Amino acid sequence: MDWGMRNRLARIISPKTNRCVMLAVDHGYFQGPTTGLEHPGETVAPLLPYADALMLTRGVLRNTIDGGAQVPIVLRVSGGTSVLKDDLSDEDLTVSIEDAIRLNASCLALSIFVGSPHEKKSLTNLSKLCDKGQKYGIPVLAVTAVGRDMVRDERYLGLACRIAAELGAQIVKTYYCDGFEKVVDGCPVPVVIAGGKKVEEREALRLAYSAVSDGAVGVDMGRNIFQSRWPVQMIQAVRRIVQEGKSDQQAWEELEGMIG
Ligand code: R5P
Repeated sequence: MDWGMRNRLARIISPKTNRCVMLAVDHGYFQGPTTGLEHPGETVAPLLPYADALMLTRGVLRNTIDGGAQVPIVLRVSGGTSVLKDDLSDEDLTVSIEDAIRLNASCLALSIFVGSPHEKKSLTNLSKLCDKGQKYGIPVLAVTAVGRDMVRDERYLGLACRIAAELGAQIVKTYYCDGFEKVVDGCPVPVVIAGGKKVEEREALRLAYSAVSDGAVGVDMGRNIFQSRWPVQMIQAVRRIVQEGKSDQQAWEELEGMIG
């Protein structure tokens, strides 16, 4: 692997721990002003000290994030759909490689929709993006988005993750499921999990712990951090699990101690 590619990956996934706490705040790219992200810059600022990487769109980056921020950027470069349409799979590439470089992106993120009406388009989008990333030494994170009728089980997620890696993604983002260790085992590149819908803090910590115990290198978590009543304490608790090897119970007890 080229030095630039390795260096950018090392900025995201710590070489010391081989783990990553990525903060996802890209939801607005198809959902608009998602709860907790009405003013993304204000939401993100207190969380940045605890994030190994920040996943977002160029619009939110340019308009709301301080240019002096030290956090590596995972730039969302696919889109073109909205929640007003039934089929979210009809995405295109939405950012040129030149603009991603101008924004000093450490990684490019794109969704794939295996089994959906626009499966082929999303997969060839991934291939094209990987070609561009290879040319300039920028890794690609493939997000295994799931259509409304698709089941998030080991068979489906294992298939989607493997295809993403086969087409050239350097990191894959997916969902936790029963049999998750098989999903990781069948995927030759690092896997991070999305947090999914907001659940109780205790449950979200259990999810993070299960994911890393079953082989994920970490999380790319959004709503379960920024929609928490205690977002700063929550990202710290997730960090204790992912980067410090604490159990979900230990992290929960420490979180309870902080919130009183
Ligand atoms: C979804 O398309 C986005 O990429 C989100 O960043 C992703 O789902 C992770 O966020 P959450 O933890 O809220 O599921």
